[in-house]
Amino acid sequence: MAPPDSTPEHALDRFRLDGRVVVITGASSGLGERFARVVAGVGAKVVLAARRVDRLEALAAELPDALAVGCDVAAPDGPQNLVDAAVDRYGRLDVLINNAGISRVVPAVDDDLDGFRHELEVDLIAPYELARRAARWWIDNDHPGVVVNLGSILGEVSGGKMRVPGYTAAKGGLHNLTRELAVQWARKGIRVNALAPAWFETEMNSDDMFHTDSGRAFVDTGTPMGRGGAAHELDGALLLLASDAGSYLTGHILLIDGGWTAL
Ligand SMILES: NC(=O)c1ccc[n+]([C@@H]2O[C@H](COP(=O)([O-])OP(=O)(O)OC[C@H]3O[C@@H](n4cnc5c(N)ncnc54)[C@H](OP(=O)(O)O)[C@@H]3O)[C@@H](O)[C@H]2O)c1
Repeated sequence: MAPPDSTPEHALDRFRLDGRVVVITGASSGLGERFARVVAGVGAKVVLAARRVDRLEALAAELPDALAVGCDVAAPDGPQNLVDAAVDRYGRLDVLINNAGISRVVPAVDDDLDGFRHELEVDLIAPYELARRAARWWIDNDHPGVVVNLGSILGEVSGGKMRVPGYTAAKGGLHNLTRELAVQWARKGIRVNALAPAWFETEMNSDDMFHTDSGRAFVDTGTPMGRGGAAHELDGALLLLASDAGSYLTGHILLIDGGWTAL
């Protein structure tokens, strides 16, 4: 794969991912499924990971070159097995998109610590372990690498009326972990950034946020632009972080939020 042409006339070409191998966790629904279609559309080979393998296989069948891998990211061997599956199939790994996530709504005083711990396992510890396993491969093979962590506006501000203590703790931790790993690995050719959306309709939030009057009011009045995000409105940001278009970008939290955190 030739290095991207750096002439101004070829600026758009640097967003392409031809021949790159991209691992996406949580690719069985929502943002992860969309991201898989987006990176495949600019030439990537895609490794799709989640627990619902039937959905991954159906998606893989629609893409030019994709591998479905059943994976619980919070299981002890889940992260290493996923990195191994990507390298076994394609002989390389270029981009890790740490997208799998869960969210529980519970007032803190009513929370139970097992639930809180599990949320940290999936939303914070698993992305850390996946990034570490991928970075070990990149460093051992003298290969450049990119990590994109799915953060959230709730990594920067509270959930307000939402009551999401585990989620805010995990995403806040993931944002600062992004900065820490970016600095540790900057001279090893590994970039680490976070994509931090506000409200996009997916299985995670559809019923509560987009199909109740109170949810819609929460999103629409709280967002300076007056609405939640449309599915395509993360595509450009994702490609900037994942591709050579963002080659001087690391340790950044890219908020895509219609102004939510600018208030
Ligand atoms: N939608 C939003 O408004 C929004 C805003 C900010 C941030 N985010 C973040 O975006 C990411 C994607 O969320 P989404 O909105 O697309 O929700 P979603 O449709 O519910 O997708 C979550 C994905 O995570 C996977 N997952 C959950 N637990 C897993 C585990 N233990 N092992 C492997 N995969 C697991 C699920 O797959 P399986 O069930 O098949 O395993 C599913 O594919 C999350 O990190 C979320 O926090 C979303």
